Amino acid sequence: MKEKQLAGEEAVHYIKEGMTVGLGTGSTVYYSLMKLGELVKNGLKIKGVSTSKSTTALCEQLGIPLISINEVNRIDVTIDGVDEVDHKFNGIKGGGGALLFEKVVASISDKVIWVSDSSKVSQSIGHFPLPVEIVPFGYVHVLRTLENHNLNPQLRVKQNEIYKTDSGNYIVDLHLKEIENVEQLSSFLKNMTGVVEHGLFLNVVDTLIVGDHDRVNITIVK
Ligand code: 5RP
Repeated sequence: MKEKQLAGEEAVHYIKEGMTVGLGTGSTVYYSLMKLGELVKNGLKIKGVSTSKSTTALCEQLGIPLISINEVNRIDVTIDGVDEVDHKFNGIKGGGGALLFEKVVASISDKVIWVSDSSKVSQSIGHFPLPVEIVPFGYVHVLRTLENHNLNPQLRVKQNEIYKTDSGNYIVDLHLKEIENVEQLSSFLKNMTGVVEHGLFLNVVDTLIVGDHDRVNITIVK
């Protein structure tokens, strides 16, 4: 079995009858959704809160019942992927462009589980380009400001068109290689006019599940 599949399926053990479950986005969570779909088919009652149009579409296909985030008070457990995670359990997310909804869902979740393959675990985050979601209006100026701070921004383009998030925003990927101070960069980006959200997820994950060859490593972070 592939590492992503091992991790994705393992996370589903944390979902219990009656729970409200945050459903992340990406190719690792895909395996969680496939497994969850089977359990739902066999009678498990849960309500899912989706983090993207693609996850919503897959849930509809699999018969996983969804509820709007605005109709829940809290989420019991959220399963999501991650693009890079370090030994302090800080992560970069947003490779799939869903970072804004993923961060909102994580912020109201009692427990956040990240599922990953072993290639994404690193000593320090920053090798994976850091996604920053920005509003289209005046985006050229945000790009220039990021450039002036030597953050190596690259506007995300897909099939020759500017990539748009589910909210209609743009994504800028910062090619940093290394981040000296993650907290400082996080507040700097958060305070920049035109920036909606960034992909630094600091102190967010509660349980990390990593597929490693033919086994899973589970770390209880908090
Ligand atoms: C999407 C994300 C994903 O969780 C992240 O990109 C990991 O994706 P994958 O499991 O496909 O590698 O943050 O915005």
